[in-house]
Amino acid sequence: MKKFYITTPIYYVNDVPHIGHAFTTIIADVISRYKKLKGFQVFFLTGTDEHGQKIEKSATLQGIGPQQLADAVVVRFKELWKTLGIEYDKFIRTTDRDHMEGVKKIFTKIRDKGDIYAGVYEGHYCVSDESFVPESAQDAEGGNKICPDCGKTTELLTEPCHFFRLSAYQDRLLAFYEAHPDFVVPKARMNEVVAFVKSGLKDLSITRSSVSWGVPVPGNEDQTIYVWFDALVNYITGVNYHLEDDTFHAFWPANLHVMAKDILKFHGVYWPAFLMAADLPLPQNELIHGWWLKDERKMSKSTGNVLDPDILLKHFNSDAIRYFMMREAPIGSDGNFSHQGFISRITSDLTNDWGNLISRVEGMVTKYFQGTIPLEARHDDADRKIREAYERMEKSVLADFDAYLFNRGLEKIFDYIRELNKYIVEMEPWVLAKSADAKPRLCGILKTLAQSILSVNTLLSPIVPESAVKIRSMFGCSESGLGWKDLDGPIDIQSPGQLFPRVEPEDFFAEDITEEEPRMTGTSETEGLIDIEAFKKVEMVVAKVTAAEKVPDTEKLLKLRVETGEDERTLVAGVAQHYSPDTLIGRKIIIVKNLTPVKIRGILSQGMILAASGEEGRPHIPILPDDTPVGSPLT
Ligand code: MSP
Repeated sequence: MKKFYITTPIYYVNDVPHIGHAFTTIIADVISRYKKLKGFQVFFLTGTDEHGQKIEKSATLQGIGPQQLADAVVVRFKELWKTLGIEYDKFIRTTDRDHMEGVKKIFTKIRDKGDIYAGVYEGHYCVSDESFVPESAQDAEGGNKICPDCGKTTELLTEPCHFFRLSAYQDRLLAFYEAHPDFVVPKARMNEVVAFVKSGLKDLSITRSSVSWGVPVPGNEDQTIYVWFDALVNYITGVNYHLEDDTFHAFWPANLHVMAKDILKFHGVYWPAFLMAADLPLPQNELIHGWWLKDERKMSKSTGNVLDPDILLKHFNSDAIRYFMMREAPIGSDGNFSHQGFISRITSDLTNDWGNLISRVEGMVTKYFQGTIPLEARHDDADRKIREAYERMEKSVLADFDAYLFNRGLEKIFDYIRELNKYIVEMEPWVLAKSADAKPRLCGILKTLAQSILSVNTLLSPIVPESAVKIRSMFGCSESGLGWKDLDGPIDIQSPGQLFPRVEPEDFFAEDITEEEPRMTGTSETEGLIDIEAFKKVEMVVAKVTAAEKVPDTEKLLKLRVETGEDERTLVAGVAQHYSPDTLIGRKIIIVKNLTPVKIRGILSQGMILAASGEEGRPHIPILPDDTPVGSPLT
């Protein structure tokens, strides 16, 4: 049996999992399930990156030890993966003993070969990215630098360390990329890697003296191994590199490392160089996806704009989240998360097109044949066409999935599902049901539908595994291979229960306000700096409140009408617990005018008021003097 070894990045434990982490892990799970469907023996590795300065610092801030922090956050990751139907084979932690042994082993091997040597690092370090920042980076105050990747201010380090002789690998790396032009997918990311290496490689510091939370350097225990060296090695220790046993030989090299573009340099350049230095084979491919953005910025804890998966899971099942992530944006591009986009996609595709097709078929079989499609099916040309269309579609979708173009493949599957819905309308089964003579034809139609649903279901199963199981058992079908499903004999149909319940936009959007509130009152967690151009994009103006009322059935929300100098508009603000409507009417306040309108409790809110966040988030709205002209911009 052919093997397929797939990995996700191991996630830092300073942060509980958010939708960004879920995206990578869902992609890896979808690919893993897809490969299984195609008959591969899959090994799927995920886990957590627990050492280093960032974790040490985060734990100190929380007044706990780093191991305690890691232990607590790991539970959150594992719980979320379970809820999202992630079927990994191993969850690795960099604090695992076997992993730490493996890290020491490869470090020693490379050092013995002469490619790790002792020295002193003098330069800049970004704790947030755990990365060394070059002298060429933009200057910040106090002799520090701005990290070119995350925009945070760096620290200046002078410390004894060990260097990895990365410079010696420049030519070998370039030769490798040339021989394997698809090593990094998509192509544009491969080009970035090549350009980076061509621009010249410097030796890389791979140990730290000032960080104690890490794997001790063998023979030099007052230093620890650089967290990125430690972390990358998880891909081999996850398959027993410390033992170099049968599992290791069966699975290494990995077939696919999945990650987002932020960690491309580490995987596309450093990792292959470390492996070359250790005389180990290189991974086959690296799939680099884009970022999930919220409000046009990468979702991340330090930006303070993360979307908590639990909010989505309160309203939607895991299949809906998996489907949205795989369908919405091509893997290489960034995707902007919006509540509106989410609900529209799920309602139109899963609830309306797919869910309705299944319940219509179930309803007809129950109504016309008491739950069993009888044997005597008569087929005609229309049925043949449905089958042929399926076979054409499947071929093309498999080619897309093989190339990791999931959004394109899903688009084709849903075009076909819409064809099936059209087929029902054209065949008019409700007319046939009125005549006893037409019964065999009616059976033929329902059987064609049952077969096509089951066939589509298999193709969709890597993406929406939970509903796929329900749909298979609805038809009492144990077969789960690809291809058109020929069904013999009478087909018993059971109700699958609710597959994709309809979610009311009002309920879902009400959640938005709980996410938006921290932004209404300023993001205290935001450490990232923005330049003046970014600030200028925010249009803040003086507005006059002309009307105000409480939003019914809510505790926190006020609906305000405001004059902005240019128009009159409605805003919804979460201030009702502290401001009665009449205290605001006639007042001059500050609003952000150019925010994308959002619906909150069915009311379109066209902007946001500014307020300071006091104790326990209590809002304090700045009220401007009465003579401040309406519409004056805040600059
Ligand atoms: N610990 C390192 C990885 C070491 S791998 C040997 C790390 N951890 S991380 O927790 O910051 O995770 C980064 C990865 O999480 C990204 O490469 C991506 O896979 C995923 N994502 C985190 N935020 C994301 C988005 N907003 N959007 C998409 N993916 C995101 O880096």
